[in-house]
Amino acid sequence: MNLQKGQIIELDIEKIAFGGNGIGKYEGRVVFVPGTMPGDKVKASFTRIKDSFAEADLVEVVKGSVDRLAPKCKFFEKCGGCQFQFMPYEMQLQIKKQQVVDAFERIGKIPNPPVSEIIGCEMQYYYRNKMEFSFGYDAEMNFALGMHLPGRRYDILDLTECHLQSEFSVKILNAIRDFIKKTAWPPFKYSVGEGFLQALYIREGKRTNEVMVNFVTSDDVPKNFDEKMKEFVKILEGIDGESESAGAKKITSIYWTKVVSKKGIPKQRLETLLSGKKTLTEKLKLRNGDELSFEILPQAFFQVNTFQAEILYNQVVDFALRNSHETVFDLFCGTGTIGLFLAKHVEQVFGVELNLDAVKTARENAVANKIFNIDFLAGDVGKVLHQMKERPSLIVIDPPRAGLTKGMIEKLNEFDAKTIVYVSCNPATSARDCLLLAEYGYSVKEIVPVDMFPNSAHIECVSLLVRG
Ligand SMILES: C[S@@+](CC[C@H](N)C(=O)[O-])C[C@H]1O[C@@H](n2cnc3c(N)ncnc32)[C@H](O)[C@@H]1O
Repeated sequence: MNLQKGQIIELDIEKIAFGGNGIGKYEGRVVFVPGTMPGDKVKASFTRIKDSFAEADLVEVVKGSVDRLAPKCKFFEKCGGCQFQFMPYEMQLQIKKQQVVDAFERIGKIPNPPVSEIIGCEMQYYYRNKMEFSFGYDAEMNFALGMHLPGRRYDILDLTECHLQSEFSVKILNAIRDFIKKTAWPPFKYSVGEGFLQALYIREGKRTNEVMVNFVTSDDVPKNFDEKMKEFVKILEGIDGESESAGAKKITSIYWTKVVSKKGIPKQRLETLLSGKKTLTEKLKLRNGDELSFEILPQAFFQVNTFQAEILYNQVVDFALRNSHETVFDLFCGTGTIGLFLAKHVEQVFGVELNLDAVKTARENAVANKIFNIDFLAGDVGKVLHQMKERPSLIVIDPPRAGLTKGMIEKLNEFDAKTIVYVSCNPATSARDCLLLAEYGYSVKEIVPVDMFPNSAHIECVSLLVRG
């Protein structure tokens, strides 16, 4: 039968696809439906039809799975920030683990891949240390501050409740909305490149209770900005964090970031510290209970789930310590976190990172933690590796979602390290790269999935590869 866009069908959801959509079958075709889970019988309306698969929007849950839960957040249906909120956490974990198994079997060509139990997150809500909210308009062109609506390029959901970061973060969000609405400053319209208000970043030190607020705008600054900004800072400084269950939080830095554009193209981000400290301090705990301290600048990458980051990095150390190592490379090192976790177990660590701010912070972090056997090199891993003369016995890699390039893998081979520890936020590209590394004699000994993002479809895993 000829399927039509907009046609409404009924189907049973059998499993969850990579990325989080439910999958069912209709007339032999695989159909992806967001917002569904295995065991659901749903009505869905086709949005895209291809020869081998189709996509459809959920119209109605005809009969929900017996495991379906009532979502915690009133914005769940619209927001899309927590796709799995209606699923029991144990089920989320098993789905993620199975997806890691599937990726390494199918893409990595490893039959029965050695995937360990997934390490779940104790906090299933309020775990994020960073949130980005956007200013804009909702579908009716009302002022909005919140999240982009899934599948809509410009529409913003005005969010007054969110369980991802902390109650304090929501207080800040709501106070800023109340204040900004009174100023009548216009949100930036990306469709035409006009307006002022762009985004609001809130970062928290989960182990320090420090909070950084970064208010991002265009360079089309309203005339009353300076005067109003003083009021804005006062309001933020007055927000009370005492009632927090996890300890009293306090805004310790307030930034204004002005995005300077030329002919509509963003060219430069000018950061002004309006109040407080230059950096946000966060701490990470090592297995032995010692803490490392990190100074984080507004734009620097830092794992967004502090407590799970500790588990992830301690897992890297556990893998690393299966052998003794003198020289270690920490590639894609960000602000140096993994290298700093490893440093006291080895003679020398070399971190490589593209982002210059992150490299600067990494160097400062090393000194602040009195760790002197670590060096950081700025540049593209693909290029910097060509200049490195050291012979590492361990190489740790933690690339962005796209994974490694073939050139990087060829170069890794030449270093002849006995052990590679591959940290990945994308099991598909990690499995692909492990297949290429297998051609150079590296075999995957163990893969540990770590859930960094409860209630979302994201999966992180750490793999141990050994040569010979
Ligand atoms: C997933 S993050 C990992 C950061 C760090 N290992 C951590 O756990 O915080 C990936 C990092 O790779 C950096 N990066 C991306 N492409 C790169 C490249 N070609 N060469 C070097 N670093 C790169 C990014 O700036 C980012 O800091």
